[in-house]
Amino acid sequence: MAARILDGKALAQSIRNQVAEEVARLQTATGRVPGLTVVLVGDNPASQVYVRNKQNACKAAGMRGTLLRLPGDVEEAKLLATIDALNADPDVHGILVQLPLPHQIDDRQVIERVDPRKDVDGFHPENAGLLAIGQPRFVPCTPLGIRELLLASGIETKGAHAVILGRSQIVGKSMALLLLQKGPGGDATVTVCHAASRDVDDFTRQADILIAAIGRAEHVKARAIKPGAVVIDVGMNRRDDGSLCGDVDYAGAAEVASWITPVPGGVGPMTVALLLRNTLDAFRRLEGA
Ligand code: GUN
Repeated sequence: MAARILDGKALAQSIRNQVAEEVARLQTATGRVPGLTVVLVGDNPASQVYVRNKQNACKAAGMRGTLLRLPGDVEEAKLLATIDALNADPDVHGILVQLPLPHQIDDRQVIERVDPRKDVDGFHPENAGLLAIGQPRFVPCTPLGIRELLLASGIETKGAHAVILGRSQIVGKSMALLLLQKGPGGDATVTVCHAASRDVDDFTRQADILIAAIGRAEHVKARAIKPGAVVIDVGMNRRDDGSLCGDVDYAGAAEVASWITPVPGGVGPMTVALLLRNTLDAFRRLEGA
C-alpha cells in the first residue's frame, strides 16, 4: 500500500488565504490590522530562516510583520525590557520570541514576561494551563497545525490510539493535551513516549496515529509502524550530505502507512499558517473586533 500524502503546504496556503480575507475585512471595518513582532536573539541560521518565513507570511496576509533583532550576547534584562515595551504597544497584537535563546538567558523568565493575551506561541503558563484544563486560548502552533491537517483530511481521532514520540512543551506535551480534548480532532487515547521509555516500538506498533517529534534523522522505521497508520513527522533534520529529512524513514514508512506528511511540505508550513491564525485571534480579542 502506498500512503496518501498529507499536503501541509496546500492546506497552509488555504488557511493563509482565509486569514488574509479576514484581515482585509477587519481593516475595512476597524481601520486597523493585526501586528506580529518576532524577536530574534543572535544569528542561529535555522532560526533566521524560520523568522523570515513568519515575517513574510504576515505581510502576505496583510498583517504587520516586524522583526526585532538583538545581539547574541544581549543581557536578559534588556530582552525583558524589550518584551515590556511590546506588551505596552497597542499596534502589537502578537509577540513571538524565537527559541532557542542563548545560554545566558533563562527561557522561562522570557516566556512568562510576554503578556498572555499576546502570547500567540501559546507558551505562557497561563495559556498552557488553559489547554491543560480543557479551556484552550492560545495553543502552540505546531500541534494546532497537526490537528488541522487531521481534521481537513477526515482522519478520525475519536477513539484512535495516538502515540507521540517526544515530550517537549512545544510539541509533544501540547499535542497530547489537544488530542485529549473533547470534540472534533480530540477524543483520542494518547500515549507519550520519551527518552526514558522502554520498548518504544511496542507502543508505536499499536498507533493508529503516530506523531514523531524527537529531532532524530529518519529514526522511525517502517517496522515500527502499524499497517494503515497515519504518520505525522514533525522532524526537520539534516542528513550528513546536508539534505533535509524528518524523524521518519519516509520511503519505508510510505509503504505501510495510510497517510503520511512529507518533509518538507508537511507540518512546517502548517505551523506558520496557524501562527497567523493565532495572531488574528489575538487581534480580535484585544480590539474587541
Ligand atoms: N523554535 C522552534 N519552533 C518554535 C516555535 O514554534 N516558536 C518559537 N518561539 N520558537 C521556536
